Amino acid sequence: MSEEIKKERKKRSLSLIQPTSIPTLGNYLGAMKGWSSFQNDYDTVFGIADLHSITVRQDPKKLRQQTIELYALLLSVGLDPDKSILFIQSHVPQHSQLGWILNCYTMFGELNRMTQFKDKSQQHSDNVNSGLFTYPCLMAADILLYQADIVPVGADQKQHLEITRDIAERFNGIYGNVFTVPEAYIPKNGARVMSLADPTRKMSKSDPNPKGTVYLTDEPSVIMKKFKSAVTDSEMSVRYAEGKDGINNLMTIYSAVTGKDFDAIESEFAGKGYGDFKKAVGEAVVAELEPVQKKYNEYMADKAYLQEQWTKGAEIASKVSQRTLDKVMKKVGFLQK
Ligand code: TYM
Repeated sequence: MSEEIKKERKKRSLSLIQPTSIPTLGNYLGAMKGWSSFQNDYDTVFGIADLHSITVRQDPKKLRQQTIELYALLLSVGLDPDKSILFIQSHVPQHSQLGWILNCYTMFGELNRMTQFKDKSQQHSDNVNSGLFTYPCLMAADILLYQADIVPVGADQKQHLEITRDIAERFNGIYGNVFTVPEAYIPKNGARVMSLADPTRKMSKSDPNPKGTVYLTDEPSVIMKKFKSAVTDSEMSVRYAEGKDGINNLMTIYSAVTGKDFDAIESEFAGKGYGDFKKAVGEAVVAELEPVQKKYNEYMADKAYLQEQWTKGAEIASKVSQRTLDKVMKKVGFLQK
């Protein structure tokens, strides 16, 4: 079988991430860390969801800078522009075009049930815009344009994947098999990393407490400090159990980084204090991020290379996504040029 045909038959994996700040350890363990491994077995597409990021007000200069930094980080975690399509969403107008069409195939009641909409409209009560509400339609467009089979994401995106499937099935039900119905791929470990300062809440870029969130470009000393101050409990025993949110979270992080299971971690730290455990988790994270940070600095020193890659990514992404958009427009009844 020729390479070309083999390539045609690979399943497609796709995921995007917002450039709203340097990614967190949550973004990394829940999504980015695993993405590069898909490159061998899947046809892979990864993107920066800058259109989604303006559902919350952004400083234009910062948004541009963060987009460049995120592109460099995607390369630094091992995404290879020769193996994957790596694009920036606003460079590919097909996303907005299909996004609009899918708005018209998504029900108000479905969007109104989205927990992210409820959370974000509480967090940004001064700016509950309609983009925030119809966010899942654009996300569905991102996925369906490329006929993705699987979408590797953290657990918080599960509901958005479910609505994407519903939209695809509804559209296919009316017009025939236009879209591949995608499945979420959620990692076993690290799918929901919690804040170090409040382990009942998701680790997030928008956490008002800076101690709660580890960023991928944090200096080793800063990472160690954040882990040392991580909230735990008064039991002083490293074991995974209900009510031990802080320790459970640290065990999850340690396990996701080292590959050790919870039993092995409990044995390793039997009889040891939380101080030793927190130090070990911090050191494991520092060691994990060291090569990523090294590459990041190299990529950031070569902006011309980055620009060349995102330009190439936009061209390929446009070509691939236009095929689906053409099909959709024909089915819906738009007159061809
Ligand atoms: P975003 O930018 O919030 O997050 C990017 C990825 O990181 C995961 N993630 C986490 N995983 C574990 N623990 C955490 N604390 C944590 N925080 C974030 C997210 O689940 C996600 O996989 N709507 C998406 C972006 C998007 C997208 C898409 C994703 C736009 N279009 C199409 C997939 C396919 C978002 O806001 O992710």
